[in-house]
Amino acid sequence: MTVRKSTAALTAAEKRAFTNAVLELKRNGIYDQFVDAHNWFLTEDSDFGNRIAHRGPSFLPWHRAFLLAFEGQLQKVDPKVSLPYWDWTVDRSPTSPLWAADFMGGTTRDRDGQVLDGPFAASGGKWPITVGVDSRQYLRRNLGGSKVELPTKAEVNSVLSMPQYDVAPFNSSSEGFRNHLEGWRGSSIHNRVHVWVGGHMTSAASPNDPVFWLHHAFVDMLWAEWQNRNPKSSYVPATPTENVVDLHGVMSPWTDVTPADMLDHRKFYTFDSEGKR
Ligand code: CU
Ligand code: CU
Repeated sequence: MTVRKSTAALTAAEKRAFTNAVLELKRNGIYDQFVDAHNWFLTEDSDFGNRIAHRGPSFLPWHRAFLLAFEGQLQKVDPKVSLPYWDWTVDRSPTSPLWAADFMGGTTRDRDGQVLDGPFAASGGKWPITVGVDSRQYLRRNLGGSKVELPTKAEVNSVLSMPQYDVAPFNSSSEGFRNHLEGWRGSSIHNRVHVWVGGHMTSAASPNDPVFWLHHAFVDMLWAEWQNRNPKSSYVPATPTENVVDLHGVMSPWTDVTPADMLDHRKFYTFDSEGKR
């Protein structure tokens, strides 16, 4: 069984295994298929039309399925690898080991945001950006440079205490846990982390930055934690509803994955924190 660990708990060997597996998926072309898929959905998802991966209730199960598919590919390269999660309520500094040269890398150039060190630096030649908004082929970030702060524990706790999973009209104007965690309302939790990292993370092709997976693994963990705290609440809508994926609706691009299939992460993996938080 896969155990997802905090980035802060990874050994040097675990960091190396993770980044090596990511680099191999980049080399063999699989990585950019994921970037492409995310780019397509983020561009298509809309408040008043179909919304599958973002701006609607299936934001959480869609990204869970997306992460599972990616983790499955990593494990084909190296069966020992799992997706680490970045707890940005604790690990909040641009000088954290998360951004060191032996993991995500983080030294960026003021002039153009280019990531200069680590496995994904353009200078290493292994991380050309091929899917995205412009022709610059180097990974870009602006850690903490956008004047937003990372979400705090108090902000996360206030969202985890919201008893309803989602509320009509099931879009970016909704009340409820999903929309507050996604970040279109309230303190902008998930969205704000994309902005804090900056560069590619603020684009539709955000998985161009491998920290995307670490961020979303933590958002995924927060969903599990919300389920734990709100055992009587469940995914809504439970019945067919225009433009959104109901509990038993199929989530594109998969042909056989529904939100109901994704509700219990323990079918697939556990977290190292489970039972400890
Ligand atoms: Cu997304
Ligand atoms: Cu995201």
